[in-house]
Amino acid sequence: MTEILVSENVAGAAMDRLRAEFATRIEPELWRDPAQLIGQLAGVRALIVRNQTRVTRELLAAAPSLEVVGRAGVGLDNVDLAAASEFGVVVALTPEQNSISVAELVIGLILSLARRIPAADRDTRQGGWKRQVFTGIEIHGRRLGVVGLGRIGAATAARARALGMEIVAYDPLLDGDSLRAMECGARLLPLEEVLATSDFVTCHLPETPLTAGLFNAARFALMRPTAYFINTARGGVVDEPALLAALQSGALAGAALDVRATEPPPSDALTAALSGMDNVILLPHIGAFTVEGQRRVVNSICRDVSAVLRGEPAQFYANFPRPIKTGGR
Ligand code: MLT
Repeated sequence: MTEILVSENVAGAAMDRLRAEFATRIEPELWRDPAQLIGQLAGVRALIVRNQTRVTRELLAAAPSLEVVGRAGVGLDNVDLAAASEFGVVVALTPEQNSISVAELVIGLILSLARRIPAADRDTRQGGWKRQVFTGIEIHGRRLGVVGLGRIGAATAARARALGMEIVAYDPLLDGDSLRAMECGARLLPLEEVLATSDFVTCHLPETPLTAGLFNAARFALMRPTAYFINTARGGVVDEPALLAALQSGALAGAALDVRATEPPPSDALTAALSGMDNVILLPHIGAFTVEGQRRVVNSICRDVSAVLRGEPAQFYANFPRPIKTGGR
């Protein structure tokens, strides 16, 4: 009988230890088939996922033995937290383990956009040697607008500041006295002002009903035509056709997207248009994917799942540290 089901690719030494301790089945592609996943949940006490498995109310209701969902990552847009809590299931996650990795990627993207590194690389491989065409800008003294000053936003701000950037930020959860803003040298401003005055805007908002499509045509219209937009958070926070229109009309200078509304993105006209633009950088959601970040994430989630199954409290959780008997399923 399977005690732990892993429906995405979560691997490493900590997973090997977990497998030695509990009957564990790892099916990295199972997330693609929700009906098959639901069919395999009988007797399962822990489900470990990344961001692709939809942990819905229906799935949770079909898993009466489930004690813990282990989310190997930070975003919970794929997990019905309310339903999990209602059913007494612990939702364990890794809220800080990949923050440095994502922040470092954002710095890489800021520099890549400013110096047009991917486009210059592509051109040089094809025989070009266009030094004037690839004249970039310095980021020293430029203003970075951080939208969402959580752990990743703050880590990004601190690193950008060390490179001489001026930091402004918008975060609906922080007030003007915020210690976090002070520590990373960010000045909190209303969203409109952040968008209208920044040279680079980086998004670090979770996807929720309140943030879905937040970066829409009206908000892109506020930004400077010389500004760059970076998204390493969630694709659903952006109205992608509106972003494409802003890039095509010259209302924005460029964009870097590590995340898309649908992942992997469909091979449609939108993706083709974005792929054809030299001022756009597209990545396959690799912000958290560093050796160190993944080691921390996998260690942490395996430790917490093991703890819950042994009757001990989880260290990092979104609702409660131990399962609650509800009799609801
Ligand atoms: C996260 O939410 O931790 C990152 O976006 C990576 C992931 O979703 O797995």
